[in-house]
Amino acid sequence: MSKSYAIAVIEGDGIGPEVVREGLRVLERVAAIEGFQAKPTRFPFGANHYLATQEVLPDPAFEEIRGHDAILLGAIGDPRIPVGHLEFGIIARLRFGLDLYVNLRPVKLYAEHLCPLKDKTPEDVDMVFVRENTEDVYTGLGGIFKKGTADEVAIQEMIFTRKGTERVIRYAFDLARKRGKQKKLLMIDKANAIRAMDLWTRTFEEVGADYPDIARDHAYIDAACMWMVKNPEWFDVAVVANMFGDIITDLGAMVQGGMGAAASGNIHPGQVSMFEPIHGSAPKYAGKNVSSPVATIAAVQMMLDYVGETRAASRIDATLGELLRTKQIPSLTTGALATDATGDLVCAALEKTAVPA
Ligand code: IPM
Ligand code: MG
Repeated sequence: MSKSYAIAVIEGDGIGPEVVREGLRVLERVAAIEGFQAKPTRFPFGANHYLATQEVLPDPAFEEIRGHDAILLGAIGDPRIPVGHLEFGIIARLRFGLDLYVNLRPVKLYAEHLCPLKDKTPEDVDMVFVRENTEDVYTGLGGIFKKGTADEVAIQEMIFTRKGTERVIRYAFDLARKRGKQKKLLMIDKANAIRAMDLWTRTFEEVGADYPDIARDHAYIDAACMWMVKNPEWFDVAVVANMFGDIITDLGAMVQGGMGAAASGNIHPGQVSMFEPIHGSAPKYAGKNVSSPVATIAAVQMMLDYVGETRAASRIDATLGELLRTKQIPSLTTGALATDATGDLVCAALEKTAVPA
């Protein structure tokens, strides 16, 4: 009997449904080629569902989602709903509720012409960010006092725990070892201004002692942004706290050719994990069939790699690389190639692609 994977799918808002549709077509096609089954179950959560029912993500559905092998998420966010309400109720709820403490964000340039940096090649832009995903300012601890008055005070705490910091740093060291590229781990922080980040500095040194084969490097977040643009080839694996990781990975997405390229995995090793494109819901392009589904297809690739279908993952990766290098997918910017036409191309090319051993 072939293996079968139960995938919880939340298409979400804006362009979410159309990019997820193409991602699922690619999933179905690659499963047929590689001989496994993927069974998607759709969950309707997002803005329309909220407006119709006032439900964000009810507990029974959360439990049902937890019972799947993996989760594929499109995008959440809609201008009709107060900012952050659905983002926190759905994305953050899943990240925190499932304790998905690693937000893995590869920055991989498939073809030189996609890179906005002069003379940088795919060899130069090939790095992975390990973003902490369950702490920092995202815990929502804080509040607003005397709201709307001249004496208003707004506080949101930046939280780091020893356990939370250590586990994500350890994951990043393991990844640097597994990738075996530069055998280097870069820790990005802002300990010179945020003294609480001294916890990151010490934990990095202490955990690093267990990895004598991995060189330790350090950069402040502002400098890291500068180096990313100037010398992306210096980056291999980088570990970073939640908020700075959010910001620098958007920069990473542009360096790899645009938001249309960038995928991520929200991971708790060994447990149900969630995969998503890092772009948002882009409401103004919703339903127009102009958004690139490549980031979602790359998220499907990460999901398959995570569940152990590594050949299928390599097949998707090689296919995307081939189609982008040969400009059959001309670029990752909105409107470059229709959403469905991109999915058609990928599905047709999957079978012909030579999969690296
Ligand atoms: C991301 C997004 C989210 C984040 C938003 C939608 C809350 O920007 O996944 O990068 O800040 O983590
Ligand atoms: Mg972001």
